[in-house]
Amino acid sequence: MKILVTGAAGFIGYHVINRLINEGHTVVGIDNLCEPDTVDLKKVRLSLLGVNPDAIKDGIPARSAIAVFDFIKLDVLDRNDMMQLCNECRFDAIIHLAAITGTQLAINYPTPFHNINTSGTVNMLEAARLTGVKHFFFASSSKVHGRLAQAPMKENDNIDEPMCMYAASKRAAELLCYAYANSYRLPITIFRLFTTYGSWCRPNSEPMRIAHDILEEKPIKLINNGHLVRDFTYIDDVIDGMMFAINTPVHKSGQVPYALYNVGRSTPVPYLSFIQSIEQALGKSAIIEQDATNPFTIGEHVEMYADTSKLESELAYSPVWDYEEAVPLFAQWFKENYKVNFTI
Ligand SMILES: NC(=O)c1ccc[n+]([C@@H]2O[C@H](COP(=O)([O-])OP(=O)(O)OC[C@H]3O[C@@H](n4cnc5c(N)ncnc54)[C@H](O)[C@@H]3O)[C@@H](O)[C@H]2O)c1
Repeated sequence: MKILVTGAAGFIGYHVINRLINEGHTVVGIDNLCEPDTVDLKKVRLSLLGVNPDAIKDGIPARSAIAVFDFIKLDVLDRNDMMQLCNECRFDAIIHLAAITGTQLAINYPTPFHNINTSGTVNMLEAARLTGVKHFFFASSSKVHGRLAQAPMKENDNIDEPMCMYAASKRAAELLCYAYANSYRLPITIFRLFTTYGSWCRPNSEPMRIAHDILEEKPIKLINNGHLVRDFTYIDDVIDGMMFAINTPVHKSGQVPYALYNVGRSTPVPYLSFIQSIEQALGKSAIIEQDATNPFTIGEHVEMYADTSKLESELAYSPVWDYEEAVPLFAQWFKENYKVNFTI
């Protein structure tokens, strides 16, 4: 297949492109390489995919030396560029990952979340439907489960009360995807991802911050005095699930070609246990500070993990990596690459 991946220099973008090229697909990746403090990490990810960072110029393809992969520095907000690219390349599928993320960032700076996550998604949907794309994949977030959420989170829960602009922008994009699937019969699969971690992770993600703070001997604030439960999901599980989704047609005769899945390990992990496993793997203790802040006030949930029964029954797939097995791999990678290939 010929596949366009947006957000190609990001954490999940890097891993999915790696898998796609290993499976023999032809891939074009785009990213605007925004956020100056993470640009180095993004360039390292691209170089691991065979792209010479010095060859990256605005709008001009940089060809991978090791695979059928072109990277182009483009912005999903540029509707004309997206149309032109999709017109020229006639992709079979689009994997739309480009986004701005972060709950606290969204509270401080809401507007870019609407622009990039919602309007950017419309640009990709529009380019997809006008150029005959056969499958559109969109990465949504568990954060769409708002104030009314109760774990385990199911796809059809009432999610009418998002707690921050990140959640609202992702929910808006999910609804726009549904409208495109309904109006234009554009087949669409959506994954609502729960905290995903692994090598080349996003610096502002919780696992990266925890590993960083332990190594740098910085205090880790445990909001709600540590009474938090998360569904830490290893990157290999997410990529395996994406491959199942990409290779499974969304056609349902007579129905809207739209499928939405909650994707997590579906195991509730106490936040403190996760920290302890990183401590063990790094061989260093964390400095813990209790903090009574109520998670709801900063757009977070107390308890959050996925019900993956729909994923299992419809896609015949379920994540398998327990954090006890995956954290040592993540921590080893962190030790080897922190300060060598990136800083936080
Ligand atoms: N990693 C997780 O735990 C997680 C959880 C829930 C949802 N998601 C979703 O999965 C997707 C990928 O997440 P990630 O962890 O890889 O994030 P990431 O920040 O590492 O990657 C996103 C990429 O999008 C790019 N981007 C941002 N704005 C752009 C624009 N206007 N044009 C082109 N590129 C742009 C960024 O430069 C970045 O490289 C996102 O949509 C995110 O919301 C991730």
